[in-house]
Amino acid sequence: ATGGPIVTDLLLCGKPNLPPNAFPVNLQCCPPMPASEPVNFKLPDPSEPLRTRRPAHVAGAEYMAKYERAIALMKALPRSDPRSFYQQANIHCAYCTGAYRQVGHPELAVQVHYSWLFFPFHRAYVYFFERIAGKLLGDPGFALPFWSWDVPEGMRMPMAFVNSSSPLYDPLRNTRHAPPKLVDLDFMGAEKNYTDEQQIIHNLRIMYKQMISSAPLASLFLGQPFRAGDSDKPGPGSVEMYPHNTLHVWSGDISRPNTEDMGDNYSAGRDPLFYAHHANVDRIWEAWRHINNNTFHVDFKDPDWLNSSFLFYDEEARLVRITVHDILDIEKLRYAYHGVSLPWLNARP
Ligand code: C2O
Repeated sequence: ATGGPIVTDLLLCGKPNLPPNAFPVNLQCCPPMPASEPVNFKLPDPSEPLRTRRPAHVAGAEYMAKYERAIALMKALPRSDPRSFYQQANIHCAYCTGAYRQVGHPELAVQVHYSWLFFPFHRAYVYFFERIAGKLLGDPGFALPFWSWDVPEGMRMPMAFVNSSSPLYDPLRNTRHAPPKLVDLDFMGAEKNYTDEQQIIHNLRIMYKQMISSAPLASLFLGQPFRAGDSDKPGPGSVEMYPHNTLHVWSGDISRPNTEDMGDNYSAGRDPLFYAHHANVDRIWEAWRHINNNTFHVDFKDPDWLNSSFLFYDEEARLVRITVHDILDIEKLRYAYHGVSLPWLNARP
């Protein structure tokens, strides 16, 4: 029988299916085994400070310096620590390369891309990442910066990531796309040679298309249903294809075989830019739900979606099982977005 939620089990994590010329060649990306069974996720205490995520281009030096320190602290942890940067990056590899097999269907992969798992999985991933960072910093209000590539002022790789002596730097990027180069939200590998003004208009139209014209329903925005017993990658939502995927490839080093780091799933989490990119993807999900007067912008109610679950280590290094229904209310998760508007709302082509 098929159907039911996709459930992740650490015992069903094994060899990743890596692209040719991936490195290191013997990469294993399953997390360390826990001392005991996973615990079920509990929402944070409502009295916790609200973590207000700010756009990287206006957050200010002090705010970005905190993110820098957090990444340095994660990189300094031993690789065996599930909160280390090494293990955090591997989470993406494990969920995106078929390392996890489906409970009850070991011949089938768990895959969090190209389906309705895309937004909830990445929300949970970034949520734990942020809390681990806050814990290491001793700052319970720590919030991630987001890369607001959908507003004109945010349409460059944020400066804080480009300084080669910063922990936020990654040498495996496309050097042609360093600032002041503007992002190209539907980048397919060829440079467009637009003027900045043309590129901004183009990008805003892409946003309008992906958020409004192409995404009137949950399945079109969030992605196609993916249930236990289904083959992976049934179909992505509009924004997952672009700007999400396209910006991965836009950021990665095209001289590498798989556009590492950002341009391939197995390596994307190795770039600190990934977490700022995904904070914005997550913000865009919130924006989609709140687009005015569109009563169709509501999430799935399907129990197979709501009960799908993932495993993460939390800031105390405890293994936690989190389900999609746990993470639908960001206020209850004690974070918020601040600092940018939605200029593409009026950019109907
Ligand atoms: Cu799991 Cu940005 O991809």
